[in-house]
Amino acid sequence: MAKPNKVKWGVLSTAGIGVKKTIPGMQQGEWSEIVAIASRDGKKAESVARKLRIPKAYWSYEELLADPEIEAIYNPLPNHLHVPWSIKAAEAGKHVLCEKPIGLSVADAKTLLDARDRTGVKIGEAFMIRTHPQWLRTRELIRSGRIGDLRSIAGFFSYFNRDAGNIRNVLDWGGGGLMDIGCYPVNTSRFIFGEEPSRVIGLVERDPEFKTDRLVSAILDFPSGQAIFTCSMQLVPYQRMQFLGTKGRIEIEIPFNAPNDRPCRIHIDDGGDIFGSGITTESMTACDQYMLQGDAFSRAIRGHGDVPVPLEDAIQNMSVIEAIFRSAETGRWERV
Ligand SMILES: NC(=O)c1ccc[n+]([C@@H]2O[C@H](COP(=O)([O-])OP(=O)(O)OC[C@H]3O[C@@H](n4cnc5c(N)ncnc54)[C@H](OP(=O)(O)O)[C@@H]3O)[C@@H](O)[C@H]2O)c1
Repeated sequence: MAKPNKVKWGVLSTAGIGVKKTIPGMQQGEWSEIVAIASRDGKKAESVARKLRIPKAYWSYEELLADPEIEAIYNPLPNHLHVPWSIKAAEAGKHVLCEKPIGLSVADAKTLLDARDRTGVKIGEAFMIRTHPQWLRTRELIRSGRIGDLRSIAGFFSYFNRDAGNIRNVLDWGGGGLMDIGCYPVNTSRFIFGEEPSRVIGLVERDPEFKTDRLVSAILDFPSGQAIFTCSMQLVPYQRMQFLGTKGRIEIEIPFNAPNDRPCRIHIDDGGDIFGSGITTESMTACDQYMLQGDAFSRAIRGHGDVPVPLEDAIQNMSVIEAIFRSAETGRWERV
């Protein structure tokens, strides 16, 4: 097969996630090439460009968007800048892979959908987990009936961060645990059920100083069953997802921050007994989920396959998050 015509990407900002994970991942891809990075501080852009061997460094996001060589933008800005800068990128004719959560609200995200439809570019949300083999395998096993009928999903996602200087602790910037990490159990519950929840109920405890949510638990009512999760930015670091069916159970050990230097494992329990005699473990070959995500998006740009997490899906996810916040206010079930 001829060598792929790599998509030329530009990165908006020197965000930690880009520098540490997404850029190095995408640079391993067959379909993606990072050609430029921009920062509000040009010196930072230059230093990162040197370190990561990115050919061009820009002193402003605007300059990067004006570069005609760039075909696609990766947007890892703070949450309140996801929609505004993704719209600017679309209007400059660039495809956009935008970090999660897609925006601050459903209304915010819908303005991005309008921009996409107006400009004809491709836009997706950077839920890298959706391209990781452990999630594809889990979905395949469940669809094949391995655990009987899937009825219940339970998840945890937590870590500790009370740094006042972190973007996640600024309420107006879309801070808080539900937007930062609760979005993952919401996303993966929808992905694995392959359905949308009709209603949710949630409990939200806020940080007295930051006013961001620091402990959230929710129940999502799906046509085929129920999903529950707890997320927090002020708890022990932990992540796990469990899928319970009428006959068996699947557990994903490191569901979200899947490492790229060792295999990921899923445990499949045939329900033989409660002591685990029926548990088998499948190990996935080590892979980089950011590379896979970038290449899947680049392939979609080249006309091979779909955008992994399109805006319609991102808006559905945001609708669930919004309903959880509403429910915490009203103390009642809220329709999604
Ligand atoms: N998918 C994942 O695995 C994953 C993991 C972590 C984070 N994320 C998402 O990625 C995004 C960035 O997270 P992060 O932890 O990488 O953030 P971060 O390190 O704080 O980076 C955010 C960057 O945005 C730029 N920026 C522009 N305006 C800013 C402002 N007013 N205040 C602060 N920074 C501003 C800065 O870059 P310049 O100074 O260079 O302009 C800054 O470095 C978030 O949306 C987060 O949800 C995703």
